[in-house]
Amino acid sequence: MNHNSPKYKVTKNVAKDLAEFLAQSSYSSVFLLVDENTFQYCYQLIENVLPKQCHLIRIQSGESEKTLETVHKIWDVLFAHHADRKSLLINLGGGVISDMGGFAAATFKRGISFINIPTTLLAQVDAALGGKTGVNYGKLKNQIGVMQSPEIVLVSSEFLATLDTRQIFNGFAEMLKHAFIADATHLDELFEIAEKMDKNPKQTELLQSAIEKSIQIKSHVVEQDFNETSLRKNLNFGHTFGHAFESFFKETDNPLLHGEAVAQGIICELFLSNKILGLNFGLVTEYSRKILEIYVKISIDESDFEMLTEYMKHDKKNVSNVIKTSLLSHIGHAVPNCNVSELEIREALLFLNKLSK
Ligand SMILES: NC(=O)c1ccc[n+]([C@@H]2O[C@H](COP(=O)([O-])OP(=O)(O)OC[C@H]3O[C@@H](n4cnc5c(N)ncnc54)[C@H](O)[C@@H]3O)[C@@H](O)[C@H]2O)c1
Ligand SMILES: [Zn+2]
Repeated sequence: MNHNSPKYKVTKNVAKDLAEFLAQSSYSSVFLLVDENTFQYCYQLIENVLPKQCHLIRIQSGESEKTLETVHKIWDVLFAHHADRKSLLINLGGGVISDMGGFAAATFKRGISFINIPTTLLAQVDAALGGKTGVNYGKLKNQIGVMQSPEIVLVSSEFLATLDTRQIFNGFAEMLKHAFIADATHLDELFEIAEKMDKNPKQTELLQSAIEKSIQIKSHVVEQDFNETSLRKNLNFGHTFGHAFESFFKETDNPLLHGEAVAQGIICELFLSNKILGLNFGLVTEYSRKILEIYVKISIDESDFEMLTEYMKHDKKNVSNVIKTSLLSHIGHAVPNCNVSELEIREALLFLNKLSK
């Protein structure tokens, strides 16, 4: 399989496109992976076009289920129904399903075909694309996995109607990230959409063309650097601080969703983009304020700065203990591997606190 050409299709009729995909292929058997929510809300949209002998694999939803034990259960069903090298696994769900189903398929009998039908916004614009699959190892996220691309990713905003608003804005943060690193015009379009959705959060159809644009940006980056030697690191913009916020707030009464933490991380990394790469400071404050119109304002006690810095020191992107991150030289242009000092981290956190007052 050519790793460098992730195939996706953005559609308004996922059943039709799935039917076409299945008609053009000749799999010996078909398996469908769901969790209880995607079984309840998403299965009905594709049920009629699945082969009669399609085997359902049902797992529990949630990040805590993203383990090797659950993968074992998936393999058990594949073995029980005699899946072979010509079988297909369809992953219908959010990022947990596509990460884990992709891993289960990529390792079963050294690899069977799989396709992703992402049903959360976060999975549609991010998790289901790009070939990263895997599971968590204890508390450590995504430590066990392989790179393997799905045969196709079918993306439809039809699924978003049953997602709650918080989940929509969770994925929206990754869309903002894509625009910040690659497309200033698209970024302004996204803030206009956010404003309209703020008035009526159920207007998910507004997102359809923006989703396509966002997928194009991610796919283009992945095509150029599948193995993340340089350019692909730019997809981590906002994530050095974002992951630290996510870990820090996990231990509190108000845990943040991943995208919510990344949104705050983007603000800190915009600030550093000014300090380190000279990004216009007026733009830093303008976009930071726009982000805070969408997401909750957080403030971090100065006594916790050290703990946040510790989290950042354990980031996978660091080299020889130096904190490395991707920053922006301009809105729409990112630069990987920028060194950040502990003093700069402190200044960025103070900036976030000041804006969040
Ligand atoms: N592989 C990658 O490149 C990559 C990138 C980003 C994130 N991820 C991974 O993705 C995961 C997060 O993905 P997520 O936010 O989609 O989480 P998720 O899969 O846990 O989905 C969130 C919740 O929404 C429910 N749900 C899914 N679709 C629904 C629908 N249409 N209607 C109603 N409910 C629905 C799910 O059952 C779940 O309870 C994390 O494990 C993260 O590590 C992977
Ligand atoms: Zn992310």
